[in-house]
Amino acid sequence: MTRARYDDVAQYYEGIMRPFERWVIPGLRMAALREIPAGARTLEVGAGTGLNFVHYPAEATGVASEVSGEMLKIAGEKQRPGGVALLQNCAEDLPFQNASFDAAFATLVFCSVASPVKALAELRRVVRSGGTVVLLEHVRPSGVLGVLFDFLNLFTSKLFDDHINRQTAKTASDVGLEVVKVERSRLGIINLITCRV
Ligand SMILES: C[S@@+](CC[C@H](N)C(=O)[O-])C[C@H]1O[C@@H](n2cnc3c(N)ncnc32)[C@H](O)[C@@H]1O
Repeated sequence: MTRARYDDVAQYYEGIMRPFERWVIPGLRMAALREIPAGARTLEVGAGTGLNFVHYPAEATGVASEVSGEMLKIAGEKQRPGGVALLQNCAEDLPFQNASFDAAFATLVFCSVASPVKALAELRRVVRSGGTVVLLEHVRPSGVLGVLFDFLNLFTSKLFDDHINRQTAKTASDVGLEVVKVERSRLGIINLITCRV
């Protein structure tokens, strides 16, 4: 696999994230995991350094996947439930058969995937009909703040590969996922999106 963008920041990632975790998204990782039905075989995409593993139920089964080998290396050093495999792959091209999972989720991933449309369509494909897709994402807020985000995105997308004006709930709906709930926080910038396949 070619070198991924996050390979270069992997060792600093958790340090960079610490204030964000504390002040912007406290409790929201756990809230995202709570949306996943008990016993669901689950796929996490863009699992990064495995910051969600502490919130997995002990009996969790499925796959935690990530495109960056360096992020994955750090994730591999963390404790995770025995039924969860780690795999390097790209969210836009998942190596799973149709309807392989009961649920899928991602946290803070769809701001940086190259094609949110392809990746969300892949989640729809690999999760069975009636299954659940949960996304915790920062997105474009509405109103004048949205216009500001459009402007700032010119820089963040080039400098950090971080697209801060994506409308992830709309994109999920566009690819055919049924968006059943969007919980907005932090002026609408943080969305916890729950979809049904
Ligand atoms: C901001 S980090 C979030 C990591 C983790 N989900 C978390 O909440 O801490 C974004 C992650 O998405 C991964 N990523 C970006 N594009 C991806 C893709 N196309 N397929 C899989 N993972 C991807 C990056 O390598 C990175 O680990």
